[in-house]
Amino acid sequence: MTAGALAFGPEVMAWADALAACTEQEEGLTRVFLSPEHKAAAELVLGWMAEAGMTAGYDAIGNVVGRYEGARPGLPALLLGSHLDTVRDAGRYDGMLGVISAIACVKALNQAGERLPFAIEVLGFGDEEGVRFPSTLMGSRAVAGALDPAELEVRDAEETSVREALRAFGLDPAGVPAVARRAEQVLAYVELHIEQGPVLEAEGLPVGIVTSIAGAVRCGVRLGGMAGHAGTVPMGLRQDALVAAAEIVLAVERRCSGIDGLVGTVGRMAVLPGAINVIPGAVELSLDIRAGEDSVCEAAVADVMAAIEEVCARRGVTHETERIHEGGCCACAPWLMEQLEAAVRAQGIRPLRLLSGAGHDAMAFGGLADVAMLFVRCTGGISHNPAESITVEDADMGVRVLLQFIRDFQPK
Ligand code: HGY
Ligand code: MN
Ligand code: MN
Repeated sequence: MTAGALAFGPEVMAWADALAACTEQEEGLTRVFLSPEHKAAAELVLGWMAEAGMTAGYDAIGNVVGRYEGARPGLPALLLGSHLDTVRDAGRYDGMLGVISAIACVKALNQAGERLPFAIEVLGFGDEEGVRFPSTLMGSRAVAGALDPAELEVRDAEETSVREALRAFGLDPAGVPAVARRAEQVLAYVELHIEQGPVLEAEGLPVGIVTSIAGAVRCGVRLGGMAGHAGTVPMGLRQDALVAAAEIVLAVERRCSGIDGLVGTVGRMAVLPGAINVIPGAVELSLDIRAGEDSVCEAAVADVMAAIEEVCARRGVTHETERIHEGGCCACAPWLMEQLEAAVRAQGIRPLRLLSGAGHDAMAFGGLADVAMLFVRCTGGISHNPAESITVEDADMGVRVLLQFIRDFQPK
């Protein structure tokens, strides 16, 4: 396909590159919730939304929201979007592609002077990854009316609460409850996102339709041993928190291996006090366990907790565990999947349905509206990695399919 036929891909890729420059890193991309980098990225997105004919602004939780009215003002809306925050040392498409592709769709409608029998809202959520605060999906859960006000008191590593960070960002936390949409205002939530897995590439397809999103449990674990002199404490007398942690990491790998759809990860570990000649007195580590079925996930979590108990008892190490997130599996709505499939077929592409092992903002909407997701192929399935990449052709195809879906959308 020549570049001339790519009506949307080049601009989407340029927008992704522009957003990637909003980062706290010298080299690489990290953008966390309510940071100066978040503000810079949000300002870019607000400008693109306005250019696309939307009324655009921040909501009280720091999401950016663009609205494109339908044939008459105030109609219920089809919600589109994804997240603008990133993991540490991230790729530039995870989340952002869904926001900018939705803006590209509205821009095309606006340029054609098209008004539909429903409104469209594009949302750029401020917190999906849960990197800064011990919580996740705060932006989308606020929109879905599923955010507990107490969560505004959770604190980041600098002891700043969400409430204080919202104020510093220029927002009024008192407005957060009003961010929630009422069911009658929302027709559905549909999210375009990179696949972050290898299936579409293996199938030779640019896009795919998500059947369901795996559930996940995230925990914080703190192990308490006995700090000591690395030169004088005999090996048999140690209460080494890091060696206990090492056994636990291997227990997670063992328990979560060999079962289809089940994965377990220890992604973060702090060793304290962290001196070369001190036996680690404490370790803080994270757990992330997911499965395509909630019962499988919960059974694995229970077994990992039992393993922590056993290792710590045997090694004379204390442990504290805290669930910081739990999201059940989220099924996509068949009536939306069928309409996405029709839009895929209309582009001459074989529709493929696939599970999402990654979590997404769509999981937050279960209580408010039906959801669906359109995946776009990413190279090697690589994500949460600076090597994350897509082609301009696939970016273009993602917008074409989403635009076709919007134009043909039949509310339930
Ligand atoms: O962790 C996830 O699955 C998502 O990237 N937040
Ligand atoms: Mn992610
Ligand atoms: Mn994502």
